[in-house]
Amino acid sequence: MRVSAIASLFAALAITTAIGAPARADDALRDQAKKLFEPIPKTAPAIPGDPATAEKLTLGRMLFFEPRLSDNREISCATCHNLSLGGVDSGALSGGHNAQLAGREVQTVLNAVFNKSQYWDGRTNDLKDQVVNSVMANPKAMLKTRGGPMAINPIELSANKQRAIDELKSMPAYVEAFKKAFPDDSDPLVYDNVGRAIALFEGTLITPDAPFDRWLTGDATALSDEQKDGLKLFIDKGCAGCHNGVNVGGASYAKFGVVAPPPPEYLPADDLGRYAVTKNVTDKYAFKVPSLRNVELTAPYFHSGATFELSKAVSVMGESQLGAKLSDDETHKIVAFLKSLTGHQPEVTLPILPPRSH
Ligand code: HEC
Ligand code: HEC
Repeated sequence: MRVSAIASLFAALAITTAIGAPARADDALRDQAKKLFEPIPKTAPAIPGDPATAEKLTLGRMLFFEPRLSDNREISCATCHNLSLGGVDSGALSGGHNAQLAGREVQTVLNAVFNKSQYWDGRTNDLKDQVVNSVMANPKAMLKTRGGPMAINPIELSANKQRAIDELKSMPAYVEAFKKAFPDDSDPLVYDNVGRAIALFEGTLITPDAPFDRWLTGDATALSDEQKDGLKLFIDKGCAGCHNGVNVGGASYAKFGVVAPPPPEYLPADDLGRYAVTKNVTDKYAFKVPSLRNVELTAPYFHSGATFELSKAVSVMGESQLGAKLSDDETHKIVAFLKSLTGHQPEVTLPILPPRSH
């Protein structure tokens, strides 16, 4: 009797320590992670000097889905940035495999508002300028070939913007919507306001509440043990040296191939990356460190779209950026962690667009 009472006391103690020890290890990992990452906020961040109103957001959403911004009235932002596909086109139109539309893989619009710069080479800083220089305003350059800040032809650019504006002006509902969105402007239907409205709408395309964020803010059950092991590897191996902050990336540039050049299909020789923007030799083959938020949804990977397999992307990163040959088990755990970065996808109501009048 006594013996078994003591035995059960020991058993109870053993259980407490068994529970206590991982909890402490978790706390230490969380403290470490909090220094490197931040959760995605639950509401859209404000754009300084351009308060979001319901009217601007409604207009921005219409324009995001508006194919008549493009020359052939066929392509909208949503064509390539499909919000049912993690904000990308799943490799259908852009770089990578069969495509020559953009020459580079589409980057997602989800959480783009948190990136320090836009595009693989960071050639644009803010979302409004991005729209003004986007495929809609500059289709030939965008659709041409791989690489670089496309030789933007200013005449073509302004002609395309004017065409888009004329198109919108031909639809009374748009004239009204621009007036409501920009009530203080004497001439509200201008391309700059197209950019402002779309940028504000894009600011709402954020994905809070990922399991990783819930864990980071205290929900101990939000990550599996495998995901926590993956996070630890992600930090200890050095991935977080580049992929950090609120977007787990999006804040800096790095050469693709810091330690060893990746296979040529991953890094095609003709795309010099950031160098084309800065002409600084140290920027040759440097690219923006991409955000890894929702990365499980945004295959294919890399600016070249060279692989659809996240585990392959992770092992290429290990070798090219860190000189680390990751074991299958390590790769598997890191992939499990990366999947915990998938957040609550924005719920977007499809806008009903005005009919054509000519
Ligand atoms: C034909 C396909 C296509 C269309 C249409 C398109 N994009 Fe893109 N978008 C891309 C590609 C490809 C990239 C990456 C290009 C690069 O980095 O050089 C990109 C990059 C971006 C980025 C940068 C994201 C990041 O993380 O750096 C944003 C933001 C963006 N597009 C928004 C838009 C908006 C808004 C529209 C509509 C006005 C639009 N795009 C229309 C293909 C497209
Ligand atoms: C020295 C900085 C650096 C380090 C360290 C680093 N990365 Fe990257 N990562 C990048 C850059 C730059 C790219 C974009 C490469 C390209 O396509 O040109 C990238 C791309 C990726 C991608 C593809 C994302 C996409 O949307 O296409 C994944 C996944 C990734 N990294 C995961 C990791 C993992 C896991 C580690 C650790 C094993 C790691 N990275 C280490 C800089 C880094």
